[in-house]
Amino acid sequence: MDYHVKDLSLASQGLLRIEWAEREMPVLRRIRERFSQERPLEGVVVGACLHVTTETANLMITLKEGGAQVSLCASNPLSTQDDVAAALVEEYGIPVFAIKGEDKDTYYSHIASVLAAKPRVTLDDGADLISTLHFLAQGREGELSASLERVFSRWSARERETLVERVIGSTEETTTGVIRLKSLASQGKLLFPVVAVNDADTKHLFDNRYGTGQSTIDGILRATNRLIAGSVFVVCGYGWCGRGVAMRARGMGARVIVTEVDPIRALEAVMDGFMVMPLSQAARVGDFFVTVTGDIAVIREEHFAVMKDGAMVANSGHFNVEIDLEALEAMSVTRRRLRPFVDEYVLKDGRRIVVLGEGRLVNLVAAEGHPSAVMDMSFADQALAVEYLVREGEALAPRVYPLPRELDVEVARIKLFSMGIEIDKLTPQQEEYLSSWEMGT
Ligand code: NAI
Repeated sequence: MDYHVKDLSLASQGLLRIEWAEREMPVLRRIRERFSQERPLEGVVVGACLHVTTETANLMITLKEGGAQVSLCASNPLSTQDDVAAALVEEYGIPVFAIKGEDKDTYYSHIASVLAAKPRVTLDDGADLISTLHFLAQGREGELSASLERVFSRWSARERETLVERVIGSTEETTTGVIRLKSLASQGKLLFPVVAVNDADTKHLFDNRYGTGQSTIDGILRATNRLIAGSVFVVCGYGWCGRGVAMRARGMGARVIVTEVDPIRALEAVMDGFMVMPLSQAARVGDFFVTVTGDIAVIREEHFAVMKDGAMVANSGHFNVEIDLEALEAMSVTRRRLRPFVDEYVLKDGRRIVVLGEGRLVNLVAAEGHPSAVMDMSFADQALAVEYLVREGEALAPRVYPLPRELDVEVARIKLFSMGIEIDKLTPQQEEYLSSWEMGT
């Protein structure tokens, strides 16, 4: 079996952590039990580009038990848990291509390894696997990385075409990936159907909000061990992730400022009780800054120029483009690593700006990503989306689709059941009332 991980001797530790996560994933466990009986993915080659975490391991095991031939690479160069990668290879026989801290060229060579297995269904977190397939179809893979060019220059044009033609469909895990894919679809260039798992209610309402909320704070704490209480904590972006981060920072006693560009989201933040102001003002007073916008160059030169000595900046949005580190580098006289994932930049006037996790997803780089209980739902959605694509993907046009509503609701139902929580049912009278228009005052 071909694979590329850091150290196979980490497998036993990884196995324990995968099992620890599994305890908190009852919905996925139930799907796994059904999959192992029904084998709905029998013989289907599945390629995944996801953060290599304990929860992802449980998803991979579920797909394999459903009969799929799975291979996995990382969706971020710094988010891999090397012990988990080792355990998947050693204990479960799943090919993994991922090493924490890999450079960009290695990152893409790992994507190439997953594509070389000729997947019929792909899973993405950020759309790097799908976009690589689209670059390949256009013969433009060299624009992404030299390693892709090295691998695929040996492939004929026909082999590249069949690689793409074989794909039944894909799933996408995160907001940024869905935005990229909708842009591809709107240009009429999307080559196969994609299920936007992120848009399922059981995904973004919980994973993006409660998952990112808790794990972002966790990443900041593990990296810095600083006190949040009494600090001024600036959250850039009040989407699903931003709401979670702001809520949890407030819960720990921070005075939270929200920055936004969308008037409705900004108003929501105001009425949720947060201070809202432009970043140019917040930059002067913040102790911690977290970007969760999915946007580019949100914190940039003009903001670094007015920050307090010792201000800490971190990103929890998908790509490492939200903090303009090039600008900070250019403004700095020295840079040194103070602790793992903590880099201090000293500016010409002596002020120190501290960057966490190299501006990459701080929750995955400095902590372990979302808690398993929340990934349980996201990855239950993923497993059901893969099953749906295998069953119905051939009939779908190349567009971005929502997860079918009944699957979304089913995941919520099983989650509630696993938590021992019951809810009411509509009575026949209520059903009739809610579907009628005749009854008024
Ligand atoms: P969202 O679309 O719900 O929210 C983004 C918000 O940022 C919007 O309200 C938008 O108006 C605002 N925004 C855009 N540019 C801005 C700017 N320059 N200044 C201030 N606000 C700005 O997206 P969501 O779901 O909250 O995701 C945000 C990012 O986090 C995405 O990149 C997503 O892929 C990523 N993500 C990260 C996770 C993690 O584990 N750290 C988990 C889930 C999503």
